[in-house]
Amino acid sequence: MALHHHLLLLPLLLILTVHPSLSLSCTPSDRSALLSFKSALSEQFHGVFSTWTGPNCCSGWYGVSCDPTVGRVAGISLRGETEDPLIAASGRPGLMSGRLSPDLCRLDRLSSLIVADWKQVSGPIPPCITSLRYLRILDFVGNQISGQIPPSIGNLRRLAVLNLADNRISGPIPPSIVNVAGLMHLNLANNQISGEIPPDFGNLRMLSRALLGKNQISGQIPGSVSKMARLADLDLSNNRMSGWIPGSLGQMPVLSSLYLDNNGFSGRIPDNILKSPGLSILNLSTNKFDGPIPDVFGPRSYYTLLDLSNNALTGHVPRTLTSAAYVGHLDMSRNHLCGQIPNGAPFDHLEAASFLSNDCLCGWPLTRKC
Ligand SMILES: *[C@@H]1O[C@H](CO)[C@@H](O)[C@H](O)[C@H]1NC(C)=O
Repeated sequence: MALHHHLLLLPLLLILTVHPSLSLSCTPSDRSALLSFKSALSEQFHGVFSTWTGPNCCSGWYGVSCDPTVGRVAGISLRGETEDPLIAASGRPGLMSGRLSPDLCRLDRLSSLIVADWKQVSGPIPPCITSLRYLRILDFVGNQISGQIPPSIGNLRRLAVLNLADNRISGPIPPSIVNVAGLMHLNLANNQISGEIPPDFGNLRMLSRALLGKNQISGQIPGSVSKMARLADLDLSNNRMSGWIPGSLGQMPVLSSLYLDNNGFSGRIPDNILKSPGLSILNLSTNKFDGPIPDVFGPRSYYTLLDLSNNALTGHVPRTLTSAAYVGHLDMSRNHLCGQIPNGAPFDHLEAASFLSNDCLCGWPLTRKC
């Protein structure tokens, strides 16, 4: 008789332990951490947080996801600009104010934390966030977050995406960041970050995008950067950097865009940079580069953007540009170039603006005859 009962119970036990909707009830401590997080924020237009009620935070709470194997909160994804019906249907972008509660740090299974494009979320990044050892994605883009990047950011050994762009973050790039060995995307653009790029920044061997433009970063480009074999996009534009640019940047295997414009870089433009076969976007405008433009272009040169304007470059317009596979936008204005602009592609499709304000350039597309 007893045996009979056990056999009947077995399928029921299996259902209870395996069926996700039954096992996925959130823990009371995760739930209370989420409610603290919610209470420090306010969002009027879309009612994002109106769904955050009831005991089971793993079911029906907008933007909250759980790991079914452990029944713990693994993701918070709140985006003020998205195609999601809740936000998109209202026809206006999201607006959220308030702060990021340190109670977030109790969600110690969190692997993705996205509070993006809400325009008015302010206050600091809670430093305890660096204890969230499962964190892979940290995205606070498009808010008014201030204070510093937590110095112990290097503790986040699983972090792959760090996006803090378009905020009001100040202070340095913490040197510990070079310990985040799996970091793939780093976007700190448009903040008030100062100090120098850590010398061993090049240890970030998985990094494919490093966007640090529009800050107050000073110092030189660390030579270690050229060891970053996966780096495709490097943006250091609109900072206060100076010094020579390492020629080895031209030997990086997948570098395709390099923005160094509007800094205080000086010296010659290295041959290797202009010869780099994968580089298709290069903006060196508004620096202090001098000397001639290396005449090293060839059939493997393919530039959608080549902007060398507003420097102190001398000599002639490189003749080898006529052998390039493609040159789209070219700007050599505001330098000290001289002599005849070569004939043929790409010069036949360019406008005079590309060559204005030089010392003694002549020939098409300028009106000045040679
Ligand atoms: C290159 O950089 C300069 C200076 O920051 C900027 O004004 C210009 O628009 C950039 N060029 C292009 C084509 O984006």
